Amino acid sequence: MTICYFTATGNCLYVARRIGGTLLSIPQLKRQDGIEISDDAVGIIAPVYAGEMPMMVRDFLERANIKTDYFFFLYTFGMACGEAFAHVKQLCDEKGLKLSYINAVQMVDNYLPGFEMQKQIDTLPQKDVEGQLTRIIRDIEVRAEAPVKITPAVKAKMAMFRKMLANRILRGDTAKSYIVTDQCIRCGICAKVCPANNITVTESGVAFADRCEVCYACLHNCPKNAIHMREEKSGVRFLNEHISVSDIIEANE
Ligand SMILES: Cc1cc2nc3c(=O)[nH]c(=O)nc-3n(C[C@H](O)[C@H](O)[C@H](O)COP(=O)(O)O)c2cc1C
Repeated sequence: MTICYFTATGNCLYVARRIGGTLLSIPQLKRQDGIEISDDAVGIIAPVYAGEMPMMVRDFLERANIKTDYFFFLYTFGMACGEAFAHVKQLCDEKGLKLSYINAVQMVDNYLPGFEMQKQIDTLPQKDVEGQLTRIIRDIEVRAEAPVKITPAVKAKMAMFRKMLANRILRGDTAKSYIVTDQCIRCGICAKVCPANNITVTESGVAFADRCEVCYACLHNCPKNAIHMREEKSGVRFLNEHISVSDIIEANE
């Protein structure tokens, strides 16, 4: 089994490790010219962003040549998936890839403008992540099928979410409004955890280009908590308890 994953704060990496198999990082795979993945089972694990998948994951799914008898997609999310399943199904249909199984694991929501992180972290026990994972792991072991149907009503919701959420939230120039405080020690970790190679750290400071994935890996993983955004609900940051900053660097550098 091969799993391709995208992570900013470790939820998807943790789920990928629990599912098992050969783990491949999507930001790293994306730098290759032709992407060929062939295995008895192939899965993608990615966070829900604004009711769909991260831009980089969409691009990867569009471009990758995936050969398998069992293709599955797992999201991690915090509050609501919107029509994120339908987005996967639509992309799979467009490329002639059979989507055998799709599911989602509810975890901590790392969306800083929407949530106070400490409150999110405190609600984690109620989400019973291990219970959710046990069921999903069993489904994948038995190669369960979970079809997704795109009805006209679902299509209308997909378009609405894109217009009202995704087009507003997922913008490549988002990082240009991040604020770097004088707590910054120029350690360069923000650049190393950035999956989009969008950050340059020099003696004079931290510079953001316009390829931001809006994953907030730089904000959540800064050891000095020196990167902020005006709209954040609090200064508290999150990293999945089973994952280290070095893991995020290894995944995204
Ligand atoms: C820009 C952005 C948008 C998000 N949008 C949603 C959303 O629409 N619904 C939701 O439930 N969670 C949303 N989230 C939360 C993430 O999907 C969730 O925290 C995920 O588990 C993070 O995975 P990671 O730790 O592997 O990066 C969003 C997070 C970010 C950064």
